[in-house]
Amino acid sequence: MGLGKNKITGETKIPRHIAIIMDGNGRWAKRRFMPRSYGHKQGMERMIGLMERAFALGVDYITVYALSTENLKRPQEELEGLFNLFRNHFKEYMARICARGVRLRAVGDVSLLPDDVQRILRQSEEDTAHFEGKGINVAVAYGSRNEIVHAVNAAVEKGEKVTEESFSRLLYTADSPDPDLIIRTGKEVRLSNFLLYQAAYAELYFTDKMFPDFSDKELDKAIVEFSRRTRRFGKTDEQIEKKK
Ligand code: FPP
Repeated sequence: MGLGKNKITGETKIPRHIAIIMDGNGRWAKRRFMPRSYGHKQGMERMIGLMERAFALGVDYITVYALSTENLKRPQEELEGLFNLFRNHFKEYMARICARGVRLRAVGDVSLLPDDVQRILRQSEEDTAHFEGKGINVAVAYGSRNEIVHAVNAAVEKGEKVTEESFSRLLYTADSPDPDLIIRTGKEVRLSNFLLYQAAYAELYFTDKMFPDFSDKELDKAIVEFSRRTRRFGKTDEQIEKKK
């Protein structure tokens, strides 16, 4: 394939929902002899740029893995740095994106976060609650197993048997379709307790790029790769051809 092979064209299939594991901020900063907090700030800014690009391309939902339940065990100093990003920049950055009609949801066990950070997230949710059709899920204090156990307990409390669909609606991501494409930066090839139920038929894309280096062009490349894949959802090629 020649020049322009990673270019998005009118033929490119755009994923409706992209989920991103933003890994590598710490290593990116370390290579520059800078503190990890600097990497996280760069990562947050990069994420905002990617959201702008993705929505401009026609993506409807973006889920970002900002903080896992396991990340909450990091040294207090690093956690404070991350919480300060939320305190100082989150509202302003997110307001910029959400002003275009995007609903924000915090997905995860938000009660594990400091009170003021919880309030910032709740406020952003309230401010955007009237928007429909486009969404950002910020996964904070998120762990997929925790989410599934939480959903099972909710079903047990209701005393109702669940179906695949009704169970989806008990998850923190209830209002979003399943992700079509999950991107992980930072060289690791695993899901790390992210969207395990929702990822059943997602296409997975892994890159060695550290998150702050994951440019808009890199996002386009991931989408072009997604578009080239044949999604069979367990069916045969022939069945898929017939449906076209
Ligand atoms: C992974 O890098 C990144 C995190 C654990 C935190 C990322 C969260 C933010 C930057 C704040 C929220 C952002 C948004 C957009 C809401 P790492 O520290 O694991 O990197 P390493 O693997 O290189 O150490």
